Amino acid sequence: MKILLLGSGAREHALARALARDPQTTELVVAPGNPGTAAIATNLNIDPCVPDEVVALATQMRADLVVVGPEAPLVAGVADAVRDAGIPCFGPSAEAARLEGSKAFAKEVMAAAGVPTAEAAVCTTEAELNAALDRFGSPYVVKEDGLAAGKGVVVTDERPVALAHGRACLSRGGGRVVVEDYLDGPEASLFCVCDGATVRPLAPAQDFKRLLNDDAGPNTGGMGAYSPLPWAPADLTEQVVREVAQPVVDEMARRGAGFIGLLYCGLALTSRGLRVVEFNVRFGDPETQAVLARLTSSLPELLHAAATGALAEAPEPVWSEQCAVDVVIAAPGYPGTVTTGGAVTGIEAAEELDDVHVLHAGTGTTERGELVATGGRVLSVVAMGATVEDARARAYEAVKRIGLEGAQYRTDIAQAVGAGGADGTE
Ligand code: GLY
Repeated sequence: MKILLLGSGAREHALARALARDPQTTELVVAPGNPGTAAIATNLNIDPCVPDEVVALATQMRADLVVVGPEAPLVAGVADAVRDAGIPCFGPSAEAARLEGSKAFAKEVMAAAGVPTAEAAVCTTEAELNAALDRFGSPYVVKEDGLAAGKGVVVTDERPVALAHGRACLSRGGGRVVVEDYLDGPEASLFCVCDGATVRPLAPAQDFKRLLNDDAGPNTGGMGAYSPLPWAPADLTEQVVREVAQPVVDEMARRGAGFIGLLYCGLALTSRGLRVVEFNVRFGDPETQAVLARLTSSLPELLHAAATGALAEAPEPVWSEQCAVDVVIAAPGYPGTVTTGGAVTGIEAAEELDDVHVLHAGTGTTERGELVATGGRVLSVVAMGATVEDARARAYEAVKRIGLEGAQYRTDIAQAVGAGGADGTE
């Protein structure tokens, strides 16, 4: 199978790793990719958000499958263009990608499908914003309506902070902001592979969205993750498919916007039951790094089946008994103004540890061949172990071997799991 994978983050490096190691993959091109994907595939520098460029490359390489990593190409209609060219594509249409591209649209679909979620108000004026903040109260949950690379959500006890974020959202893009009821309880992410009708869940994971330990500091794209979730109810996956993913896939099909691709269900396990926090329409980052580390069955076969409407006949995904933890190393300044150019060292030393691999995100190579930081999240260090505690200990041993001046990383990823609790409750 010839596969074109779009994207350049650690999520795409994880996807590339799982695609490349499968004997069904005969050629793998990553566009634009990163230094990590260059070691296991062919990187080609096109703009993944320009449909014509993607179609031209997929046609030229006679791709059997295009896999879209990030959300921006999906919202830009890349999957539509690829499918129109007769090439199977793992990724939803621009219309279906609105489940991530517009929080207000996602709320409307959930209401129509009877999916449990936080009560919310869509505000278009400052007066509506103020009224919604008063109605829902503290902690305030204020979400940018459009795409914001995981940084559009503010959860705060301080009304002025919530108001300032809401005002900023109103002044941008579509001029809409969503204010929600706060959901208590731990969060979980469940990725569901969909072919427009059938839903196949992957293993559940949990990510850590705040920059600092103890869920302090600003929201980020994600600072670490682990899978599976030893604390979660045994039937969590079945419940999410039954109450969330399948009704949403059915509702999208009813609207003529069949969902083909990855439906990321961001969930809160609240004291009042399961609630959807958000949908994304692509693999999550950094959860994918932990989830795919545990996948032992064929990823190309699964994604191709989804892209061709054959998921019902495809084998169920198979998982390693081992647990996986990944820790994100970020450049100084992230998630604000990032200092790039710092030398990145120690990857080989980290990978000398058993069951450890390092995934690239914001890295590049200088003319002299030195690896340097080029973006906010620089690396994901992934470790496996018999338990979450084992995997965590190994991940942090590996993190210590990585050099990057001013590097930021959390030291408490998956820590509470060993103590019998669940982290990331926000
Ligand atoms: N882990 C959060 C995201 O992928 O958006």
